[in-house]
Amino acid sequence: MSFHPKMAYGATFHKSSRQLEDEGPSFAYTPENRARFDALVLRYPPDRRRSAVLPALYLAQYQQGYITANAIRHVAELLGITRADVEDVVSFYTMFYTRPVGKFVLQVCRTLSCAVNGAECVTEALVDKIGIKPGETDPTGTFTLLEVECLGACDRAPVVMVNDAWHECQRPEDVSTLVDDLKARGEGALSGCYHVVEGKR
Ligand code: FES
Repeated sequence: MSFHPKMAYGATFHKSSRQLEDEGPSFAYTPENRARFDALVLRYPPDRRRSAVLPALYLAQYQQGYITANAIRHVAELLGITRADVEDVVSFYTMFYTRPVGKFVLQVCRTLSCAVNGAECVTEALVDKIGIKPGETDPTGTFTLLEVECLGACDRAPVVMVNDAWHECQRPEDVSTLVDDLKARGEGALSGCYHVVEGKR
């Protein structure tokens, strides 16, 4: 069942796949990120290093922009787990990108609370404004548009997440203005609540 049948759900941006096609360039953490990694694994018991896989992947993504097979291999080696273990995490969570994304990733929640409060119209406003469909990046590499499942702010629907900032109670005219602001002021236009992640650029 689709809550907003006008929008195609066929975007293949987040396909679940155990086999990443993009090996990417050789990957290793920068010295700064390696130091961050070494510090974060100390938060876990020695026999639970694998529990650091999420922040370790965030470090890789912030360093390279997206997750490649070589980044997965590096994270797996450092954590002492298999590449398949890391691939499972990458393919499960939509916040990890397996191909390049724009400078600003706009994620529109399409789950129930947001859907019944107009998420479809918000997505359509972004499609009209930026000229791309969900799953696409504009030719300038500035914006990527995604439809995602619940962003955890259902009481403030509809929600649009821009990089790590939640923008809540969004109307079509709000997101149009937000796009203009992002073009004009860059990250200074991100006024929502922030998800703080180590290693963020
Ligand atoms: S349903 Fe949209 S944030 Fe939960």
